[in-house]
Amino acid sequence: MNKLEITYKCPSNIALVKYWGKKAEGIQLPANASISFTLTDLCATTTIQATKTNEILTEAAFIFELDGKLKPSFEPKIASFLRRIWNDYSVLHTHRLYIKSSNNFPHGAGIASSAAGFGALGLCLAHLQQEFSGNAFTDFNAEASRIARLGSGSACRSLYGGLAIWGEIQEILETSDEHATAFTQYHHEFNRWKDCVLLVDEGEKSVSSTQGHAQLDNNMYAQARYQAARLSMQKLLKAMQGNNIPQFINTVESEALQLHAMMMAGPMPYILFKPNTVAIIEKIWEFRSSSLLPLCFTLDAGANVHLLYDGAHEKEILNFVENQLLPYCSKNKYLCSALGGTPTQIK
Ligand code: PMV
Repeated sequence: MNKLEITYKCPSNIALVKYWGKKAEGIQLPANASISFTLTDLCATTTIQATKTNEILTEAAFIFELDGKLKPSFEPKIASFLRRIWNDYSVLHTHRLYIKSSNNFPHGAGIASSAAGFGALGLCLAHLQQEFSGNAFTDFNAEASRIARLGSGSACRSLYGGLAIWGEIQEILETSDEHATAFTQYHHEFNRWKDCVLLVDEGEKSVSSTQGHAQLDNNMYAQARYQAARLSMQKLLKAMQGNNIPQFINTVESEALQLHAMMMAGPMPYILFKPNTVAIIEKIWEFRSSSLLPLCFTLDAGANVHLLYDGAHEKEILNFVENQLLPYCSKNKYLCSALGGTPTQIK
């Protein structure tokens, strides 16, 4: 076959317990386990057209297009990702790749586009390698998740619907540092939960996640943070199994604030949240204590606030968003998503 073509759509994800800091050994292995929900409605769709070459290549040959435009600025990250999988992916040795990706949310809006993007790329490449070699991976999802991790750590959790755990924990045998694993033992009422992403700042981040993770390498708080993350995992898994909403809320909010605390407490301190991030958090706390509704916030490595809530109360909660939170959002913008969606192959 001279030409292979494959398309996958993959959701982004939002972590409840955060991955922040890498192990010293290995490539892109997490210092602590993390857990996330996929964001069903915030996705990347990626197509790879692989064309057979006449010669054997010595490095991956590709071009990358985002939303219909060539993006040379993304090439170094993709080239370094393809170098990491080169030895295992013989399809790269004899094919040129034309990679076309698009997101259904604005790039630079502070949504983890690399999680959705590398998730979709991992699926496409694992599929191409299977087709090219004629050998099926024993566990296709685990393999796609493993290579997605080599592009962007948090991307490996986008490959499973519902909740995914990345990082080995004693409580669950199948968990691994190499790839994420689906976590299904949670109370069914969490299937109703949604995420409303309040766009506080749509600019590019001043400090990348790569630089952020590196700040944990020489940081006197790092070991305490990893220990706290282990406790958070235990608390969160119990809360989600038993539908213990106060414990869920407490753990998720504490994790979000610890993530930003680590940025402020590193050797090169920095702040990614903005005054409006704090204003929104205070409004959420006020509204929760007066309404007693099941909602909480989490943060990514950026200024946007993710408002997580039980969809059973959607009307009241979206009223609260429209009436009280919009003034703090950039251009009054927010994006809503169901949680738990699964990647799909597009025929
Ligand atoms: O995947 P990276 O290297 O961009 O790391 C991002 C980590 C956070 O999004 C801040 C937290 C997480 O667990 O998703």
